Amino acid sequence: MKIDILTVVPGLLESPFSHSILKRAKEKGLFEVNVINLRDYSTSKQKQVDDYQFGGGAGMVMMCQPLADAIDKLQENQKYDEVIYMTPDGSQFNQKLANRLSLKNNLLIICGHYKGIDERIRQHYVTMEISIGDYVLSGGELAAAVVVDAIGRLIPGVLSNETSALFDSFQDDLLAPPVYTRPAEFKGWKVPDVLLAGDPKKVDEWRTDQSLERTKERRPDLLNE
Ligand code: 6GU
Repeated sequence: MKIDILTVVPGLLESPFSHSILKRAKEKGLFEVNVINLRDYSTSKQKQVDDYQFGGGAGMVMMCQPLADAIDKLQENQKYDEVIYMTPDGSQFNQKLANRLSLKNNLLIICGHYKGIDERIRQHYVTMEISIGDYVLSGGELAAAVVVDAIGRLIPGVLSNETSALFDSFQDDLLAPPVYTRPAEFKGWKVPDVLLAGDPKKVDEWRTDQSLERTKERRPDLLNE
């Protein structure tokens, strides 16, 4: 999978994909992320990318020209499965969407800044708009990093134990059960007996039970879906 990210603040996306799981995915050649500086596509002398909004009001708007030229140029080299615009008024990102996007080959992600991008770019280039939650970030970069991380780890071969993503919280609309590691007793706090007893069937039952309890308690809305 290849993901291109268009941004006016490339520095914000320098390190999120260079550690841990996604770093290994890149090294294995399963995953490629290119961060592209939108300013490089501005034709103005001052490398302008934003301008005042028509109709007045505070806040700048990202102009059509750099975005359109950048997307046109990038699309000469590959066809994107989706052109995604990160925006608080997009549809809310969730595990289902992460699963769906992890099956794509080529994605372009546009990070908004200021008041957002000119509506005409949304109408004529963007195929999908994503928000990561009901709060406002100063730009789409951190949101894009969240989406790319969630997608990247789902690409087949990225997680060493391929099944482990299947047991994540949310994969079956349930929260994950509690987990423990050695020692079996720490400061007098004990690991549940069932996990130490070595009966895989009993362990499965216990985990399912814990998942349900946890979901009922913390996220009853997931059970109603
Ligand atoms: Cl995608 N962008 C911005 N600026 N704020 C957000 C967001 C995106 N998702 C939630 N808040």
